[in-house]
Amino acid sequence: MDTKSTYIPALRFSFLTRLYDPLMRAALKEEKFKRRLVEQASIQPGQRVLDLGCGTATLTLLAKQAAPEADVVGLDGDPAVLHIAREKARQGGAEISLVEGMSFSPPFPPESFDRIVSSLVLHHLTTENKRRTLEQAYRLLKPGGTLHIADWGQAQNALMRVAFLGVQLLDGFTTTADNVAGRLIPLMREAGFADAVETHREMTVFGTLALYRATRL
Ligand SMILES: C[S@@+](CC[C@H](N)C(=O)[O-])C[C@H]1O[C@@H](n2cnc3c(N)ncnc32)[C@H](O)[C@@H]1O
Repeated sequence: MDTKSTYIPALRFSFLTRLYDPLMRAALKEEKFKRRLVEQASIQPGQRVLDLGCGTATLTLLAKQAAPEADVVGLDGDPAVLHIAREKARQGGAEISLVEGMSFSPPFPPESFDRIVSSLVLHHLTTENKRRTLEQAYRLLKPGGTLHIADWGQAQNALMRVAFLGVQLLDGFTTTADNVAGRLIPLMREAGFADAVETHREMTVFGTLALYRATRL
C-alpha cells in the first residue's frame, strides 16, 4: 500500500465502515471523551474549526452543537465515511462542511483555523504521515490557535498494553507503535507545537485513551 497517498478506513476494511458508529457507542462510550475534547477546545462564536479525519462526523457535530456560531469543517480521506457523515448532518439539521482530502495535504490555505480537533486518526498514520499531518495542522492554525487530539496513548499498565493488542491487530502494528510508545507529544513538538501536553488519560477496553493540547505560536 502506498502510505503516502492512501488511508486506512475507520475499521480497517471498507465493508465494516457502517458498523463504526454502533461499535464506538457501545464499546468506547465515544460521546464522553469527545465531549471532553470539545470542552477542552473552548470554541468561541465566529471561530473556524477543523475536525481532521472526521470519519462519521460525531466529533464535528458535537463541536457545532457546543458552538453553533462557529464555522465547523470536517476533513476525511474516505468518501464512503463522508457519505455517512453527510447523512448524519442532514438528519440532525446541522450546518457543517464536509470535505474530502488527506490530513497531510489538506486543501486549505495557511492560518485558516482557530481550532483543530482530531480523534482516533493519528494511529492510522505511519510515523512519516503523522509528522506531515502535524506540520500541516501547525500551518493551518492561526497564531495562538490550538490543536486538540484524542488518540491511543502510552499504555499506563500491563492490562492496557494487552488490551491495545486488539487495536494493533486491526489497524496495524506499524501505525500504532508511536502511540503506545508515548511518541505523540515529541512528534507534536517536532512539528512546532512547543507546549504540547497530555491533558487526560483513561482506561478503555481497547487500551489507554489520551487527550492532548498544543498551541500554534
Ligand atoms: C478511526 S476513524 C476516526 C473517525 C473520527 N475522527 C472518530 O473519532 O470517530 C479514522 C478516520 O481517519 C480517516 N483517515 C485515515 N487516514 C487519513 C488521512 N491520511 N487523511 C484523512 N483522513 C484519514 C479514516 O478515513 C477514518 O475516517
